[in-house]
Amino acid sequence: MPLEPVPMGGYALTENAPLATRNTLHVQARAHLLAELHDASKLPELLAFPAVRAQPLLVLGEGSNLLLTRDFPGTVLAMLTHGVQVEEEGDVTRIAVAAGERWDDFVRWSLGQGFAGLENLIAIPGTVGAAPVQNIGAYGTEVAEFVESVEAWDVHEHRIAVIGNAECAFGYRQSRFKREPGRYIVTAVRFALPRHRPLRLDYAGMHEELARLGVDTPAPYHVAEAVVRMRGRKLPDPAVIGNAGSFFKNPIVDAERAAALKATHPELPAWPQPNGQVKLSAAWMIDRCGLKGSRQGDVGISNRHALVVVNHGYATGPELWAFAQHVMATVEAAFGVRLEPEPVIV
Ligand code: EPU
Repeated sequence: MPLEPVPMGGYALTENAPLATRNTLHVQARAHLLAELHDASKLPELLAFPAVRAQPLLVLGEGSNLLLTRDFPGTVLAMLTHGVQVEEEGDVTRIAVAAGERWDDFVRWSLGQGFAGLENLIAIPGTVGAAPVQNIGAYGTEVAEFVESVEAWDVHEHRIAVIGNAECAFGYRQSRFKREPGRYIVTAVRFALPRHRPLRLDYAGMHEELARLGVDTPAPYHVAEAVVRMRGRKLPDPAVIGNAGSFFKNPIVDAERAAALKATHPELPAWPQPNGQVKLSAAWMIDRCGLKGSRQGDVGISNRHALVVVNHGYATGPELWAFAQHVMATVEAAFGVRLEPEPVIV
């Protein structure tokens, strides 16, 4: 049998490491130091290294929500921890998952084990640890609904913190972890998953997709299959063309502003929020500006979905960021609405 070397001591360090294969926009950037962590219990030891302590830190999962505009001058911490722990308790099961597990692997595993709830969140790139940071959401569901607590290393307090759902301060593509960048390193997420739960079928296109599948009484795995098909048509595969999913958040504006925009643009999709504000479709506005499928050199907007900034080949981080800012300026000039990028911009 061939020998497969494994990193000793729970982590591996590499100086001047390339990051192009570690970000889904395929930006060619380097890390001054790359720390690949396989054992979360070694995190304090790793962070105590003088070379690590003295420099900025960037935590990396699959790099699917990241735009690197320069080489990273500090330590890039790649979370490669694995493992799942299940605690059955009545109708709800608690499942602790290591931060480095792939989100989609966990979703498929949960469906295979007969748990309900994550079917609408299938096929989202990224890791379990990153899921609560940006509160991933799709097809009418957000991960926040299933997070019981997040285990994270508190960089300020030098200890592991267990942060309950309410303290995570989840919002649309928002959380405490995103609001306090640099403070927490997520090491594991504890989910509470039911065996039975009413399906979320109200998202536009879901009923039609289930009908195409010939399903009238859907189960969670039918919904998952419908989502896989809808996503596959709309979102380019990062393995084929560099992208970070939605590059812009759907902007949330007050009701008067939304009403004024609807008066001049009746077809603008708008979703009222529980607090009275209104979420607007950024994709529609970008599309309406004629930017969908547009291209400048190797940077562009996907011809499949107007929210997706793509790297057609060798676009640099600064080129991608300049193009994204051009999109934001064009939408602001046309609609008076300022878009915000969704990925972390480094
Ligand atoms: N639309 C256009 N042109 C397009 C695409 C969409 O005009 O090219 C309009 C259509 O009217 C469509 C509406 O925008 O009905 C909404 O489009 P879609 O259903 O694709 O949803 P989205 O608001 O653009 C959000 C998430 C996606 C998630 C989908 C499905 C954000 C920033 N994005 O997109 O999440 O998959 O809903 O639930 O909230 C991601 O975050 O990376 C991501 C892909």
